[in-house]
Amino acid sequence: MKFAAYSLVAALVASTTAAFTTTGYFARPSTVLDARRPFISGNWKLNPQTRQEAVDLAKEISDAVTSDTPDADVALFVPYVFLETAMEAVDGKVQIGAEGVCPEMAGAFTGAVSASMLKSVGVSWALAGHSERRVIFGESDEYINGQCLKLIELGMSVMLCIGESELEYNQNLAGAVCAVQLKKGLAGISKDDMSRVVIAYEPVWAIGTGKVATPEIAESVHKKVRDILADIFDQETAEATRILYGGSVTPESVDELMAQPDIDGALVGGASLDAAKFGRIINFESV
Ligand code: PGA
Repeated sequence: MKFAAYSLVAALVASTTAAFTTTGYFARPSTVLDARRPFISGNWKLNPQTRQEAVDLAKEISDAVTSDTPDADVALFVPYVFLETAMEAVDGKVQIGAEGVCPEMAGAFTGAVSASMLKSVGVSWALAGHSERRVIFGESDEYINGQCLKLIELGMSVMLCIGESELEYNQNLAGAVCAVQLKKGLAGISKDDMSRVVIAYEPVWAIGTGKVATPEIAESVHKKVRDILADIFDQETAEATRILYGGSVTPESVDELMAQPDIDGALVGGASLDAAKFGRIINFESV
């Protein structure tokens, strides 16, 4: 229901601001006010193991995007080495993004990939701040902020991931942790730039654990995140920013999550490696 309302707003608003433009199959311009268009994304992490498997999975996922699919942006964040082949495989039906980026542009940074390298192969999206990068790879809020700033500087888009640990959740610190991660991660980003930023709220205790947050818990944090964005920028920017939920999203949980007023999409790990499951998530049903 809420998505029909967004489409109506989008249809009524004539704007030249290209916030996000899909290519190919569902090519259409979008505007800042149109920015709450649902956004379903997959995060392949360290998977799959071969180029052929990546091509097959990307193709099967893009086949799940049909004329009956809800009007949504669909993206896959894939390992660097598969970016170009995945782009060919999906033939413009799905956006292909990188799982990370180096905030530096050039120089002695062994193993790093710059935003300009990504841009040169046609990639316009990257993840920043995923909890696995924060915890396992030690990426700090300052580093994550550098990633966001560099992507924006190059005219690209970023999905900034935030979320609290289980201990922090139990201590009722979810809002406080998200506020710090948002304020530090988005430092120096203007409200106009926010049309190229998507937030993914991913409670660490729900990632890869099978413990999906209940729609009520997720909605309450999403609402807080939107209030924090209003505090950092303004109400209009907060209302226009898409906030995705991530953490053990499955075909069974997606419909109820997507029905929450402040949940604008999903960032899906495990289930994005199974085309049937992710296909069902892309084709979520409004409840
Ligand atoms: P999950 O991962 O869906 O496997 O919990 C989500 C993520 O890490 O983005």
